[in-house]
Amino acid sequence: MANVIIRLAQKEDAVSMAEILREIGWSERRNNMLIEEVSSPIKDLIIHCNQDPDGHTIIVAVDEENKVIGFTNVHWVPFVMLGSWEGYVSDVFVSPSASGKGAGSALVKYVMDEGEKRGCMRLMLTNGKEKPSYKAGFYKKLGWTERPKVANFVYYYREPWS
Ligand SMILES: CC(C)(COP(=O)(O)OP(=O)(O)OC[C@H]1O[C@@H](n2cnc3c(N)ncnc32)[C@H](O)[C@@H]1OP(=O)(O)O)[C@@H](O)C(=O)NCCC(=O)NCCS
Repeated sequence: MANVIIRLAQKEDAVSMAEILREIGWSERRNNMLIEEVSSPIKDLIIHCNQDPDGHTIIVAVDEENKVIGFTNVHWVPFVMLGSWEGYVSDVFVSPSASGKGAGSALVKYVMDEGEKRGCMRLMLTNGKEKPSYKAGFYKKLGWTERPKVANFVYYYREPWS
């Protein structure tokens, strides 16, 4: 994308990030909440992560009008078995109105460059197999490998969004 800029997220970006999540619409519950209820925890997470730049990086993609059109987060995890660091990418979201113009790729490439600069062993993320991004091979096109022998487990403390 010619005019996309990638920069660190600031707390003022929280409302735009919440709006993107609602535009994508994966959670009816989230879409029925007040925007402040969705953006407030995002703002807290941005503040927390920006106070610990060795541990976390939250970045946004902005267009030529300085509008936030996407974001991603990566958490730099010390991994004893690897004797190194793994970057765990926890969210990659682009506004549907700005999709298909390279913003998602630009966000992921920024993370890939940052992990290399930090001397990481690898990056890791999850991608729902029913999602259009998985079916379109979004991560494979960017050079990522799907692990055939690894199951992804989660342990919930409370109900997820959707
Ligand atoms: C996945 C996502 C981040 C891609 O962002 P984007 O800015 O539209 O991606 P790009 O413009 O960089 O596209 C990169 C490539 O992936 C393909 N692609 C990505 N998402 C796609 C989708 N939803 N449907 C079809 N193709 C898709 C594009 O066609 C493009 O392929 P090409 O290089 O052969 O033309 C965005 O669609 C999104 O936010 N989806 C919802 C959330 C999601 O699924 N996130 C990823 C898993 S957590």
